[in-house]
Amino acid sequence: MPDQYAVFGNPIAHSKSPLIHAAFARQTGEDLRYEARLAPLDGFAAMVDLFRASGACGANVTVPFKLDAYRYANELTERAKLAQAVNTLKFDGERILGDNTDGAGLVRDIECNLGFTLAGKDVLLMGAGGAARGVLLPLLGCKPQSLTIANRTPQKAQDLAQHFAAHGVLRARDYASLAGDRYDLVINATSSSLNDALPPLPPRLFPPGALAYDMMYGKGLTPFLAFAEANQAQILADGLGMLVEQAAEAFYVWRGVRPETRPVIEQLRKT
Ligand code: ATR
Repeated sequence: MPDQYAVFGNPIAHSKSPLIHAAFARQTGEDLRYEARLAPLDGFAAMVDLFRASGACGANVTVPFKLDAYRYANELTERAKLAQAVNTLKFDGERILGDNTDGAGLVRDIECNLGFTLAGKDVLLMGAGGAARGVLLPLLGCKPQSLTIANRTPQKAQDLAQHFAAHGVLRARDYASLAGDRYDLVINATSSSLNDALPPLPPRLFPPGALAYDMMYGKGLTPFLAFAEANQAQILADGLGMLVEQAAEAFYVWRGVRPETRPVIEQLRKT
């Protein structure tokens, strides 16, 4: 019987993860099965207990269970500890390792797929919720010249900067105080695109060669990417590459094999 994996979420029907991991398994010859499982909002731990008891090897975890998974794990990687969220679980007897591959996925998409080197760059991260917290440690690890967090509720940006203070210098701002700033890379980690909204960004934010990255993806340009295009950002990217890269990193955590992501990203773009 192939090794069993699943992604747990609610809702989960539209998850692309089963397709992505099936493509990775075919490509690498790994013998595994991966499916999507809907967990009740108050029943994450009970469902994962059953899954583990059936002999499963690991799981991915998506909205709204990343904090439940963080609590469920009995061992955490450094990046999961700091993110206070887990998107990847690995089972080994009684050991339940919790990891967070989101930030590594973002960084790989930016550096490897988009060819944009983070070292020495001025970076602006918009948002101070779970999505932002999940990517901060890997971003700091790439040694940008500066990393600024902007948030509608400025106190939350300050709290995040404090939380990561031992790992690098972070500046916390509100949107109004960004006027006159320039950033080589602006990342949207807010949930504003879900409501077809946009944080109140000043114009002239993007110097020549700038990259605008929205962690969301969907049909066409998100409101943030449309703003970036209208304001002369040179490279526009949505979060589809990050989705595939975080999956590849999870696959590596489980199997010790790194799949090729480019053909899978291309396949998803087509569909
Ligand atoms: P997630 O886990 O997706 O990060 P979250 O923890 O609810 O979700 O955080 C959502 C983030 O998007 C927050 O930073 C939120 O700003 P506030 O902290 O001020 O609420 C931000 N956000 C959501 N809608 C926004 C909008 N229309 N404009 C600016 N920021 C927005």
